[in-house]
This record gives sequence, structure tokens and C-alpha cells, in this order.
Amino acid sequence: MGTSAAGHGRRSQEWFGASGRAGMVYRSWMRNQGFGPAVFDGRPVIGIATTWSELAPCNAHLHRLAEAVKRGVWQAGGFPLEFPVLATGETLLRPTAMFYRNLLAMEAEELMRGNPLDGVVLLSGCDKTTPGLLMAAASVDLPAIMVTGGPMLNGKFRGQDVGSGTHVWKFEAEVMAGRMTEAECLAAEGCMARSNGHCMTMGTASTMACMAEALGMQLPGSAAWPAVDARRYETAQEAGMRAVALVESDLRPSAIMTREAFENAIRANAAIGGSTNAIIHLMALAGRLGVPLDLADFDALARPVPLLVNLLPSGKYLMEDFCYAGGLPAVLRELASSHLLNESPVTVTGDSIGANVAGAECWNREVIRPIEDPLQPAGSGTAVLGGNLCPGGAVIKQSAASPSLLVHRGRAVVFDSPEAYHRVAEDLDLDVSADDILVIRGAGPRGYPGMPEVANVPLPAKLLRSGVSDMVRICDGRMSGTGYGTVVLHVSPESAAGGPIGLVQTGDVIALDVPARTLTLEVPEEELARRRASLVPPAGPESGYAWLYTQHVLQAEQGADFDFLRGSRGSGVPRDSH
Ligand code: FES
Repeated sequence: MGTSAAGHGRRSQEWFGASGRAGMVYRSWMRNQGFGPAVFDGRPVIGIATTWSELAPCNAHLHRLAEAVKRGVWQAGGFPLEFPVLATGETLLRPTAMFYRNLLAMEAEELMRGNPLDGVVLLSGCDKTTPGLLMAAASVDLPAIMVTGGPMLNGKFRGQDVGSGTHVWKFEAEVMAGRMTEAECLAAEGCMARSNGHCMTMGTASTMACMAEALGMQLPGSAAWPAVDARRYETAQEAGMRAVALVESDLRPSAIMTREAFENAIRANAAIGGSTNAIIHLMALAGRLGVPLDLADFDALARPVPLLVNLLPSGKYLMEDFCYAGGLPAVLRELASSHLLNESPVTVTGDSIGANVAGAECWNREVIRPIEDPLQPAGSGTAVLGGNLCPGGAVIKQSAASPSLLVHRGRAVVFDSPEAYHRVAEDLDLDVSADDILVIRGAGPRGYPGMPEVANVPLPAKLLRSGVSDMVRICDGRMSGTGYGTVVLHVSPESAAGGPIGLVQTGDVIALDVPARTLTLEVPEEELARRRASLVPPAGPESGYAWLYTQHVLQAEQGADFDFLRGSRGSGVPRDSH
């Protein structure tokens, strides 16, 4: 068995370069796929981790994308091997895909470490697959490059663009208000999802694709190519070639995803009007890498950044428009021109992010606004709140909220679970007014394992029918990246962890002051202490993955990762029985 000089010492050669019985076993069974002996000569072995599944419709085309990656790997002299990892599709998987993000990360980490791989290409798409794979790559720290699957083409319904996710909420509200029939709503379904790909609004999937690019983990422009655009397949082929080069230059995720890279990603998130879920995922990712980052960083770094990208849910357009306007490189170049981008972090291209975007151009200033004429001014991004109702923090996406409600004081109307609210939401006699504040609790990482996207509950039918389109909602859960409204999210600690949100009673007064970054429960401390003393912690699951989840999940401000998965464990196999 020969080993090339270039491949000497390569990780995969611990398997394929082995002599004797063990080496024969490693090679022989691989040859049942028709691979000749030359592939074991020490060339870089590149794993392609795919979250393909027909049960994850946003990722259903990744198998085809993997073929393009393989072309690139072969072309650059590597040996590609595709392997499946948990496909956490947002739409079908119950209770919520987020329940499985950490499981995906754990599975992918172990498969990367346990197999003869020198580097990996990460194929993701739907919301949780991108952070899950990045978290895995961070913990193994083998050279890695991401290729996200790309957004669907713009939805088209009756001559208008419709955005996946965002228009689900809009259509639901229209039907509840009696302005749209069920039949019309059914017709709109198919028009919203007319090609392969993930949500084409600036929801969590598009946001995380942009975050992967801003962090330097995917090639420039990768986030925006539509899933069915031939150039996405060209990019995937190029990523395969780059994966081989990353192995040869030993450029690892820990050298790319530095504190400076995270700062760039946080600023980019403000400029694109990205999902609040990015905060949770970036915190979890930073925790894997040991990068110091806290919730306050998101507020401080985002404040000087204006909203530049005019996409739903904060703006008007969709990802296809964003792509044709220049995509994320055009945004990053705009930030760089105002010294809001640290240009030095190295990326998977082998060059700095500044060099990557130096020649980027914007082709549509209506979609990507110039920094001197933004869609919304600096300071209108996602704000981080503090106060006695959220000692661990809370967030609100200002760009998707009603400006008139950002300073608001009102009566709390409290529900112990999203289900409790939904049971009465259509009751036209519900005791609620537009000035009230809906409090939905029991939806945090521990209380509702997976921390579902329920915070932007639809308004009570009674208010919708009287023309009300927004009211303040406060929740310890998350909101879909495609959602909108004046919604305070990720209230921490959650009620199931004994947080003050569990002490609120209907009739209490809550004061929200976003400019001052406060969320205050106007109830005397002695009364809160009395209520706290009589709190009964909810019973959790007693076995299975749900038990593991509730025992080990961290609060939102730590990314809702498992406590035992934080940190990088490297690529060394703990024991080798061969
Ligand atoms: Fe998969 Fe939106 S449901 S990206």
C-alpha cells in the first residue's frame, strides 16, 4: 500500500495507510463501492456532511448539490465521501426543529471525528442545519467549508411577490379577519414555495447562510444564489476544491471563526435585518469555540449599524432580489466603507474578508441601500433588554416592530403556555385591549424543550377584527425569523427555570422602554418574593432524549446549547480498538 509524500501524516492515513489486517479492513470494504486503490494514496479525504432528507423539504436538493461538491474535490485531487447527518427540517419536525439542533451538532461532531476524514464540506439549508453543522465543525476543528442550499425562488401569488413564512402569518391574519377565504389561502400555499430551497425571506435560514458567509465559513456570494440557480452548483464545485486546499494549508474553523469574525457577523446581521435566532445560534457557536461573547455585545456592536437590506420581514423584497442586487458581499463592502467591517479575518478562500469583498458591487440600490441612505437608521436593529423581568436578558427586533409601541406601558394578560393562549385567541369576548401586553410563558428552552417559535402569537381575533395590527407581546420562547411585530423574545431566565416571567399575573403593569433597553415589571419586590415562595417548578420529562435535553440545556443567552457540549474537543479519537 503506497502513501504519497504529500499525504504522509494525514489523518485519513491512520486508516487507509495502515498495514496489516486493520489497513486491509479499512480499504477493502471501501472498495465495494468501486473505488480503486489509488484513492488511498494519501490524498485529502473530504467528508461531505449532508442534511439531505425528503422530510426536510428545504434541504431536499442537497443530494444534488453534493454531486457538484464531489466534482470539485476530485478536480483538486481529493477523495470525496458523502455522509448523512440529522436533517432538522423546520416545518414537519415536532415539537420544533430547535429541539434537535444540539443532537445534529452532536451526531455530526462524532461522525466527523470517528471517520477517516481530513476535512469536511457542510451542506445545510433549513434554519437549524446551518448552526448545527457549524457547531459540530467548531468542536472537531477539522478544516471545513460550508455550502448552504440557497433560497427558493420568490413566491408569486396573484401578481405579487409573497415570502415564505412571513406571508403565512399575513394570510392567517387575513383569514382570521375575514378578508381572505380559506380557498384563496389554499391557492396561495403552492405559490409560496415554487422551487427547491429554503425560505426566501430574510428569515433564520437566509440569516444563518449570511452569518456563515460573514464569519468566513462559506465562499463569498454563497448565501444568496437561489437553490436552483446554476451558479450555486458552480459555487458548490468551487467549495469542493477549496476544501482540499484548506486541508493542504491546514486552515481550521478555529482560525476563521475568531472574535473579530463574530463581530463582523453581528454587524452584518444588523445590516441585513437578520433573524433574532442568529443571536442564539451565534452564542452557541461562540461557546463551542471558546470565543468570548455575551448578549451585550450584540447590542453594542449592532447600534452603529443601519438597516441596509430591504427584505421581508423588515422590508419589502426577497432573497432572489438580494442575490441579483449583489448579495452579502455588496453589504459587507458597504459596511467596510464606513469602517463597520473588520477586514482582516481570514476566510475559507484563504484571503481576508476585506479582500473577498473589495470588488463587490451593488446592482440595485432599492434592495441594498447605500449606508448614507439606509432603510432604517443606525440603532434600529435588534436590541438587548435588561430589567427585573429579564435579569438574564431579552431581545426585540426593532426593525420588525411598530415604532409607536417601542415605549409602552400596559396591563399584562398572562398565559402559562402558547396552547393556553391559542385556546382563547378567537374568543370575541376575551378580556383584552390593544394597549394590553400579552405575556406567553412556558416556552423557554427547558419549559418547552426546543424553545419553539411561538412568541409572535397572532393577535386576539377580537382585536384583529377591529383593525388592530400589532400589540406588545412578551415571551420566553423564540420567534420565527420570518415573523414580525412588537415582540420581546428570549426572556431569561425562562419561567421553567424560575425566572421572574413566571411571577407575572394578569393585571400587573409592565413597562417596555426599548430606547432605554429596559423591561420592567412594576410590582414591588416584596410581592414578587411572596409569589416566588409559592412557585411550583413544572415536572419535566423522566426519560429519553427529552430528559437529556431538559437536564442539560442552557438558557437563551448561552445559545441553548447543552452544557456538556460547550468547547472544542478536537479531532482525536478517544480510543481505537483496531
Ligand atoms: Fe426551512 Fe424556512 S422552513 S428554511
